[in-house]
Parts: sequence; structure tokens; C-alpha cells
Amino acid sequence: MLSTSVAGLALASPTMLASGILGYSAESLNRVARAGAGSVVSKSIGVEPRFGYPNPTVVQAEAGLINAVGLPNPGIDLYSEEIKFAKIILKIPLIVSIFGYSADEYATVAKKAVGAGADAVELNVSCPHVQFTGSEIGQNPKLLTEVVEGVKAVVNKPLIVKLSPNVTDIAVTAKAAVKAGADALTAVNTLKALAIDPETMRPILSNIKGGLSGPAIKPVALRAVYDIREELPDVPIIGCGGVMDWQDAVQFFLAGASAVQVGTAVAFDDLEVFASINKGVENYVRKKHYGSVKEIVNLAHRS
Ligand SMILES: Cc1cc2nc3c(=O)[nH]c(=O)nc-3n(C[C@H](O)[C@H](O)[C@H](O)COP(=O)(O)O)c2cc1C
Repeated sequence: MLSTSVAGLALASPTMLASGILGYSAESLNRVARAGAGSVVSKSIGVEPRFGYPNPTVVQAEAGLINAVGLPNPGIDLYSEEIKFAKIILKIPLIVSIFGYSADEYATVAKKAVGAGADAVELNVSCPHVQFTGSEIGQNPKLLTEVVEGVKAVVNKPLIVKLSPNVTDIAVTAKAAVKAGADALTAVNTLKALAIDPETMRPILSNIKGGLSGPAIKPVALRAVYDIREELPDVPIIGCGGVMDWQDAVQFFLAGASAVQVGTAVAFDDLEVFASINKGVENYVRKKHYGSVKEIVNLAHRS
């Protein structure tokens, strides 16, 4: 009923942990797996270790979070040991999120991640708050093509590209990613945002601007998935952005997503959100007289 697949990855359930949320250690990824996630995505990893930004790095917004954590990570060489350990204890696919400052760097990290045992890589070409990487690449179809082609040439595992919502037309970047070799797309990363403290009269985050996540971005993320599906009938899509409960997940499936990633809901609630979304989706599919969650994907596109 709940099993599905994305670009050849077999998932026992269509809920996944989004990158950057509890996503470092093998143990915490395994806790998410035991809570019912069909797959987990690691925090984004680069070539070298990186500290990220000083505090404050996260601020609560009206209906979500604004974060500018700054991609802190231990670097792929150290993280490869964690990937190897994760592969021993995890019974679900491990997707390693990667970033770099050039096509070569993305390819280097991807190759090492897959060499250590990653079942797939997700390219973070959409982080809105670190210069010279993330959305600075993903917003530019030419750079995006170089990066995706470079990674595709060195990995033999599913290649997922995580798109930025901070573009005029997400179908343009989606098409560029698929043409360059993406096997699946994650839509979307955070929306560029700002919070100001009236007391100090200054921006709250140390990086000034950050990325908005949570319920505030769900309608935008849903529209992004819908737009991509209209232009690209076949590419597997993973919906991401403001999935807080099973109703949200169902809306993403109907818009064209085969699976959903959950981020802010884990920070707001706890890991039980995975089981509760899975149960709600299962009840919905049964109530609507379908045999599997796969059968409801794309149904919002019927004329
Ligand atoms: C604190 C925090 C850290 C994040 N770190 C990453 C990251 O390292 N790589 C990445 O691709 N996305 C990162 N994201 C974005 C999430 O993976 C996700 O795309 C976004 O939060 C929207 O989903 P949500 O509304 O379910 O949280 C981060 C989000 C938050 C809130």
C-alpha cells in the first residue's frame, strides 16, 4: 500500500527525512528510519570541513523557520566513515546530500559518498545562504548543467537534484537538470527570507538573510511540483516544503510527487510525524478505493 520507488530506489514508505534535519550521525538517521521514514537524506557534505555561521542561525517565523546555518559539515573524508557505519545499521536507502564550489568539487564529493556506500546522492544546488554554491549554481541553467553532467559522469547510483524555489520559472531549471542527467528532482529547498528584530533594529540572523521553511512555503512548493510535472511528464519528483501532516503529503502526491521529504515538522514536533503521515496516507488511499499510494501520483493533472 505505501511502498513506492524513486529513480530505482525502493522505498517501504513515501516519507523521507529532508537534508539538514537530524542528518549527521548514523545513529540519528537510524532513529528516523525506525520512526517510519522510507529513506533518509544526510546533511549536505562538502569537500572540506566547514564550521558554518555564528549564532543566531535559526529564527522562528510566522509559519515556519528561517535558517542560515551555513552548511557546517565535517567534510567528505571524515563523513565517509559515518556513511560506512550508517550502511551497516540502516535498513533503508541512504541518500547523501552534497555541495561544492565547482563542478569538480561536486563530482569529487559524490564519488567519495558513493564509494563509501551511499545509495544515491542529492545535489544541493539550492541552499540560499552560502556564496558561490547552492542556489548560485541551481539558479543558473548553464552552471547547473555543468555540475549535474560532472556528477553523472562519475557516479553509477541515482542522481537527485534538489531545486531552488528562488527562480522565475522552476520548469526551466528542472528541464536543465534532467537534460544533464538527473534521475529525479527534489522540489524544493528553502525560500530566501529575512527577519528583523524591532528592539535591536537589526536583522536577527548573523548571516542577515536565510531560507524560509515550514507551512509558510507549502503552497509554493506544491505549485513547483505541479509546474515541473506539467513540463516533464516522466521525471520522478520528491516533494519538499511544509509537509507537516498526511493531508500535506497527499497534496504533493496528487501534484506529481512520488515521495515527500519532511524537515521542519521534525523540528516542530518529533519523529512520530513519519508514522502519523504514513498512517494517514494509507487510510486516505484505502478510503478513496485505490490499491497503492503510487496510484494517486499525478491525479491532480487530470482534465
Ligand atoms: C535548520 C535547517 C537546515 C537545513 N540544511 C539543509 C542542508 O544542509 N541541505 C539542504 O539541501 N537543505 C537543507 N535544509 C532545507 C530542508 O532540507 C528543506 O528543503 C526545507 O526545510 C523545506 O522543507 P520543510 O518545510 O519540510 O522544512 C535545511 C533546513 C533547515 C530548517
